[in-house]
Amino acid sequence: MSDPFTTAQKGAIPEGVENVLRDTAHANGLPNSVYTDPEFLRTERDQVFARTWTALGFASDIQENGEVHPTHLLGIPLITLRDRQGEVRVFHNVCSHRGRQLVDQPMKVEAGLRCPYHSWHYGLDGTLKGTPHIGGMNCHSCEGFDKSQHGLKTVRSAVWCDIIFVNLDGEAEPFEEYIEPIMKRWEGFWGRSGPEELRPAAASDGQLTLDVQSNWKLAVENYCESYHLPWVHPALNSYSRLEDHYIVLDEDGESFAGQGTRVYNLAEVAGITMPKLSQWPQEREREAEYLSLYPNALIGLQADHFFVVLLEPISEQHTREHLRISYVGDAAVDDEHAAARESQLQAWTTVFEEDVTMVEGMQRGRASPGYTGGVFSPVQDIPTHHFHQWVARRLIGDGARRTETPREAASV
Ligand code: FES
Ligand SMILES: [Fe+2]
Repeated sequence: MSDPFTTAQKGAIPEGVENVLRDTAHANGLPNSVYTDPEFLRTERDQVFARTWTALGFASDIQENGEVHPTHLLGIPLITLRDRQGEVRVFHNVCSHRGRQLVDQPMKVEAGLRCPYHSWHYGLDGTLKGTPHIGGMNCHSCEGFDKSQHGLKTVRSAVWCDIIFVNLDGEAEPFEEYIEPIMKRWEGFWGRSGPEELRPAAASDGQLTLDVQSNWKLAVENYCESYHLPWVHPALNSYSRLEDHYIVLDEDGESFAGQGTRVYNLAEVAGITMPKLSQWPQEREREAEYLSLYPNALIGLQADHFFVVLLEPISEQHTREHLRISYVGDAAVDDEHAAARESQLQAWTTVFEEDVTMVEGMQRGRASPGYTGGVFSPVQDIPTHHFHQWVARRLIGDGARRTETPREAASV
């Protein structure tokens, strides 16, 4: 299959992007147009989202083998499904014949996928199984047509902590390499087996969807920093104070940035008792970390739960946030722990709703010609700047040099 992303028209680089690559104290942020220009979002789709591992959805939403869901990434139609062996697979949602979108509605299938137009059908592994009457009435094959060459087009995918990641251009590093820096970072919390201990909570007490009138990048930026805590999250600041936070950067500079806290103690404040991750060290019980895994997964890890906010970009100024909370072991998602899960969900709902008005306010500010990227606190905004640099390097191209962040600042 030829790669549509390597041939995609490279959009003009917005003026001012190069200023992002200065050191944090002297850099400007990304210019307004990367938040407000609908054309730019298409450039971003092809140069940012398509070229790395992007969070697309949740494996637990595809419960049974044979379940098929149509979805899309910024207009590119995709199918996620669970095959006969229970593996999650992702395909381009388009029939190989005349290009009708193959699946319009979520469905459960027994025999595979059938195109409604001329009834070509495909196995759940994407192979083209049948081409009725292709060679004339009652002749289901024809000379020179090799079915094996016309199956569904597979999209590279991987599942980690229930999140389905996709790499559309097929050229990103192996998923294991992409996720390794996070696994390494969190090894001291949950060993190597933490993700396997997680169980996603049900929609009733483990999920929240928020529609935010802002560009997806502003949600990432807001999540990167704890600077705003005292003013935006007074309740959170009472059990996880700004002064007890530290910044976190991917030392290799490529996949994440965010913050951590040494004193997260909601469990004590709200009287929540939940099972803890088996490898979590007792003396680090109150530590927690909140990382933006680029481009669009905001993840949080505490001793007794993990969450992700998957950012679904809808338009340049509209993002749908999908919060999903996972707990530790089967018992944590049983009826007995329902009240604890509800308290936990309520606490995070408060926090994320408080963020919405700030993020939407930043989007409105991006309409101002009086703002040209702004500046960063060289102490508080290092992770935010790290993300800006990550975006800028992808727009400018591989040749863009990374600006080193001062070591002492990064290792707070
Ligand atoms: S477009 Fe699908 S069978 Fe013809
Ligand atoms: Fe916040």
